[in-house]
Amino acid sequence: MARRLAQLLTPESSLLDFGCGSGRYLLSLQGRVGRAAGYDISPAALALLRARAAARGWDELSILGPETAALPQYVAQRGQVDLVLCLFGVLAHITSPVARAEALERMRLALKPGSGRLLLSVPNIRRRFRQEQRQMNGAAPGFVRYRRRINGGSVPLNYQLFDAERLRRELTEAGFLVRRLGCESVLPESWIVNGPAARHVDGILTPICPLRWCYGIYAEASC
Ligand SMILES: C[S@@+](CC[C@H](N)C(=O)[O-])C[C@H]1O[C@@H](n2cnc3c(N)ncnc32)[C@H](O)[C@@H]1O
Repeated sequence: MARRLAQLLTPESSLLDFGCGSGRYLLSLQGRVGRAAGYDISPAALALLRARAAARGWDELSILGPETAALPQYVAQRGQVDLVLCLFGVLAHITSPVARAEALERMRLALKPGSGRLLLSVPNIRRRFRQEQRQMNGAAPGFVRYRRRINGGSVPLNYQLFDAERLRRELTEAGFLVRRLGCESVLPESWIVNGPAARHVDGILTPICPLRWCYGIYAEASC
């Protein structure tokens, strides 16, 4: 994703990271974009992002949320952007189909028609949470509940897993033109982030992996 971002961005580009979290992707783009904004609904993530941006002296970064109205207000004041990111599980955490459609609509309205690009990735239903999927008798396909350890506690989370068809359908229904679907990675993301050897192996496997076996599926779209 980082390599693709480098190809899509110029120093004049404007960027919105939808579901930016504490800024993993966003902060890596400091100095490489003209105008940047991060939006998230988590006050804790936004507070961390604010502190990290301040520590790096990135005063021009717009940090939006947790209110949903903050994003359309920003677009009305500052204009649409060249690139919207929605990476690594953001869409999957929005488990109501109606809320997902509304989130995609907000991303579309933030993007420049024609030239703008959306870069979005989702977890693959065939690779992720296989055991939890088996336990979800009668639930909608790809909907799972799992527990994550956070600050010593165990927090229940809901997740919507995707296959390529669902991803294409939801983007198309939200008014996007899907230009490319691809493999985000083959190996689990935590291995790639933490190990150079895993990164190297993944760099070889990812371009040749069929979509159905990817760890995450990404889409590039315009509107
Ligand atoms: C797995 S994190 C990914 C964060 C970041 N994109 C990254 O790759 O590091 C998912 C993020 O989505 C955010 N999120 C969940 N629902 C959201 C919504 N409805 N609107 C915006 N952000 C949301 C969460 O608060 C969380 O920060």
